[in-house]
Amino acid sequence: MTEAQFIPKAYAKTVENGSYTWSSPSNIALVKYWGKKKNQIPENPSISFTLNNCKTTTTVSFSKKEDSDSFSFDVFLDGDKKDGFKPKIETFFKRVETYLPFLKDYHFKIETSNTFPHSSGIASSASGMSALALCLMSVEKELLSDDVISSTVEKSEDETYFLQKASFLARLGSGSACRSLEGDLVVWGEHANIEGSSDLFGVKFPHQVHDVFKNYHDTILLVDKGEKQVSSTVGHNLMYGHPFAQERFKQAHKNLEAISKILQEGDLDKFIALVESEALTLHAMMMTSMPYFILMKPNTLQIINKIWAFRAETGSKVCFTLDAGANVHVLYPEKEAKTVLAFIENELAVFCQNGQYINDHVGFGANLIKSE
Ligand code: DP6
Repeated sequence: MTEAQFIPKAYAKTVENGSYTWSSPSNIALVKYWGKKKNQIPENPSISFTLNNCKTTTTVSFSKKEDSDSFSFDVFLDGDKKDGFKPKIETFFKRVETYLPFLKDYHFKIETSNTFPHSSGIASSASGMSALALCLMSVEKELLSDDVISSTVEKSEDETYFLQKASFLARLGSGSACRSLEGDLVVWGEHANIEGSSDLFGVKFPHQVHDVFKNYHDTILLVDKGEKQVSSTVGHNLMYGHPFAQERFKQAHKNLEAISKILQEGDLDKFIALVESEALTLHAMMMTSMPYFILMKPNTLQIINKIWAFRAETGSKVCFTLDAGANVHVLYPEKEAKTVLAFIENELAVFCQNGQYINDHVGFGANLIKSE
């Protein structure tokens, strides 16, 4: 697979205007992507659970404009115009223009909303960029369609291409976004033993997953809802010249190999050890970079210690993971949902800002909501 494969042939149709709405979820990495090369190529492969409830819904309305000189678009969040979002989208458009050559032919109205509060400290870039990429892919699909009813085989090939290219485009918006289109587990980044894995787009984990991971829960504890202290771009850049970078990238390959087996066999003790180690390694990379950062807050550590104590006392298989911030993702199997939720309410909510947390569970990816 090469990038060139995503450059479309000449469009068959002209379309004056239209509108597409997609919803796309967030995801939580089990083996983390941290460090990238040029053009959003990851330094190491990663794997994530796709979430279900934390999602972005985006409508892209497009209308043909007179000239094709420059990009033209407006962005709205929950109905309010957000010019602050424009630079990020402009950068995205520039990165994907070769693959979506129609971008300068239209004016786009991009209307987006999240199911989670914007200021929750939950990254909306994964759900947001994947929803936007899917809307643009729907536009392209319409431009390419030649009204010939294709055979079933071709149709399924078309669907694969559609999802792969959407994931490819989402990656160019935000790396982790390429893991949000499908579920329940998505791998991104080439790995010797994961068939079909690619640096260019996310692929569904190719093996049968053990039943214990079905409907796995993720309760996101909102420890710090403020703006991110370190943007992901700055964060990834910290891996350049990092003294431990090469070892970390090797470790991620090993961990992906190990988690692949764990996910198939259902060994929750091994799952816990690997996932918690990955989370702490991510933060260790930040603490040992130059400049250095501590993104955990005192309450993050309080929560981690409480989880460890609860596990020791009860034999529960609850564990935690972290993204590049202070919030804690509490992961647990479906059959423990009731007891762990009670534990969260009674013992962990007190460490959250205004007692807030979000209950989520594993989901199956993006959905087309409307096309007009
Ligand atoms: C810690 O995907 O937000 O969540 O490619 O610069 O947009 P960009 O980075 P982003 O990085 C996510 C990092 C992480 C780990 C992960 O999701 O794998």
